[in-house]
Amino acid sequence: MKPRRLFVTTALPYANGSFHIGHIMEYIQADIWVRAQRMAGHEVHFIGADDAHGAPIMLKAEAEGITPEALVARIAAERPRYLNGFHIQFDNWHSTHSAENTTLSQGIYKRLKAAGFISSRPVEQFYDPVKGMFLADRYIKGECPNCGAQDQYGDACENCSSVYPPTELKNPRSTLTGAVPELRSSDHFFFRLSDPQCIAFLRNWVNRGQLQPQVANKAREWLDGPQGLGDWDISRDAPYFGIEIPDAPGKYFYVWLDAPIGYFASLKNYCDRTGLDFAEFTDPERAQAAGTEMIHFIGKDIIYFHTLFWPAMLQFAGYKVPDAINVHGFITVSGEKMSKSRGTGISPLRYLDIGMNPEWLRYYIAAKLNAHVEDVDFNPDDFVARVNADLIGKYVNIASRAAPFITRHFNGQLASPQAIEAAGVALDGADAAQTCTQMIEAVRESYETREYGRAIRTTMAYADRVNQYVDLHRPWELARRLERDPALADPAAKAAVRAQLHAVCSECLIAFHHLTLMLKPVLPALAQAAEQFLQVGALRWVDADQRPQTIGQYSHLMSRVESRHIDALFDLPVAKETPMPSSAPGSTAAPGAATSAATLAAANETNAPVAPAAATAAAASPATAAAPDKAAVAGASSASATISIDEFSRVELRVARIVRAQAVEGADKLLQLTLDIGSGTRNVFAGIKSAYDPAQLEGRLTVMVANLAPRKMKFGLSEGMVLAASSEPGAGGPAGIFLLSPDSGAVPGMRIK
Ligand code: 2FM
Ligand code: ZN
Repeated sequence: MKPRRLFVTTALPYANGSFHIGHIMEYIQADIWVRAQRMAGHEVHFIGADDAHGAPIMLKAEAEGITPEALVARIAAERPRYLNGFHIQFDNWHSTHSAENTTLSQGIYKRLKAAGFISSRPVEQFYDPVKGMFLADRYIKGECPNCGAQDQYGDACENCSSVYPPTELKNPRSTLTGAVPELRSSDHFFFRLSDPQCIAFLRNWVNRGQLQPQVANKAREWLDGPQGLGDWDISRDAPYFGIEIPDAPGKYFYVWLDAPIGYFASLKNYCDRTGLDFAEFTDPERAQAAGTEMIHFIGKDIIYFHTLFWPAMLQFAGYKVPDAINVHGFITVSGEKMSKSRGTGISPLRYLDIGMNPEWLRYYIAAKLNAHVEDVDFNPDDFVARVNADLIGKYVNIASRAAPFITRHFNGQLASPQAIEAAGVALDGADAAQTCTQMIEAVRESYETREYGRAIRTTMAYADRVNQYVDLHRPWELARRLERDPALADPAAKAAVRAQLHAVCSECLIAFHHLTLMLKPVLPALAQAAEQFLQVGALRWVDADQRPQTIGQYSHLMSRVESRHIDALFDLPVAKETPMPSSAPGSTAAPGAATSAATLAAANETNAPVAPAAATAAAASPATAAAPDKAAVAGASSASATISIDEFSRVELRVARIVRAQAVEGADKLLQLTLDIGSGTRNVFAGIKSAYDPAQLEGRLTVMVANLAPRKMKFGLSEGMVLAASSEPGAGGPAGIFLLSPDSGAVPGMRIK
């Protein structure tokens, strides 16, 4: 088969911020694909760049008192740490703020103009007279024209979800200066996407079968929707950090015009550096003759730009159009959209800095990815379980169980196929070689089609078979017999056991070789170490029927993920261990016992933080909530300050029914509660295990703080807290934890005031 020639890109990240875990997931997905292609002998050029232009970058630089160029350079300097850290091997990393991109963008614009695809007309827009610039929708806020909600952005209301032009906002204000914006008119340039030639081209391109069905459907909706495809506004007025439009002083290309052209700019920079012929990848005829392909990996939020604007721009400027747009979903953390403020984000640098192995993440992401536009969830418990069970328990274990015997008894030499056959312990029976080759081909095909989860499942099913084989033949017992069994004095018996041990351990290491091959796109560093240990060259798919001959000294290939890694990754507070005295459930709390938040920080099996004063007072004695009588609240913290009724009313206390209560695996103090609060259910982790049998809790009513910010814990997301009384340490009250209950008649969801 002729090797493919591939130009592969990932979406260009904005250069005003560090990489987040979403970027890393996309790069890992593309990097795995690229490595699998290289293992097939294909020529791959994996290209990235920073997306450096646009108003946000300009304004951020201004806020920092530096030039946009300096900001972009600072961010660019960070990139290698992340990319190298996660073994993401781009061949070139460049910038859209570059000579190549200026030349290419201006050239594409001129070609589009010459072909009649550029028009211009005046556009009325809000203008900040203080800042002296036109305002994009996100820099305008006001009252929603539909529901009147305050502080809504210029394009959509977060309260009622209505969408509107910024000119409809009531009392609009510039978010940059607070000035009342003025409507001003200015000439803008448009790419005439509504041109019938353009529509006809895109209909055809979208239906060529190279897009994922979900993506093609989306593109068709835009193309054929009631609004049709409008012309695309590609210009912005100065001040703007971008590329100047030729013959239009003070006008710049909108960042989304020159961003995808940045793919070409980085490729051009790379071609100039390496002597490759740029036209072979970008000129339609030359590319066809050279058989090159253009493959983009992107997230689902930028489908529009990549399935409509980008191919149309290329087509009508006389360039080659993309061959594939591979779209992935977002990464969520424990089912939640990532949010830094809620502590659910994963910082890629923190991940690396605390010594977590990048290949754990690569593996976990690969195991969850498929070819559909689906979100990938990072679940900390699942991550730990999966990485440890699969990579350590199944894969690495095979080598660590077999290698020492081969080294000790056979000088590192593996048994020949004939010897394995003769010992009667062949792993896969007579058709072993064929079965194995077919399996590896299926795995290669799964990588090719971006069904990584399937590739991993096939690989791990094989690892399971090998481990069953190990358990069946018990090489450690064969070795023990060989070394210590006096009955083995008979040389023939001894030779037979020796042959068996040799054959079994050799089969294991041959299987380990196959497993390494199948995991190599995902685990490049581990595969390299395994190749050294197996004394084989860099594995490629054609090596499916090869086998190692001798092995080197085995040294530990990978260590386990530990819960301390997860704690550190999510920055869970390491509170001191406060004893929670146990007591018979149902005993009565003494008056004045402090009501505590029996939940939250128990994530790392520590005690809960002290409940907010308002919650304490409210739950202990509603009548005194506004100004708790310190003398009456015997034993309560003397540091409790009074709060106003307004402060108290910010705490949303509601009646909740415990519909489910269960122990939490690996947690000594926690119960996981599912609470019905009328409008839905909440998941809460509560540190009440010492006092309650879960079965006794199910069905009973209690009180919860319903508006506490959700918090990511080791065991999952805790969405509130239940209130319980307990004595202050050292105050001499009865031991125990006493969950609050409302009087009979209360129902889930009732507000407690
Ligand atoms: O959405 C983004 O982060 C853009 N910077 C992606 C650009 S992709 C390509 F067009 F450059
Ligand atoms: Zn609204």
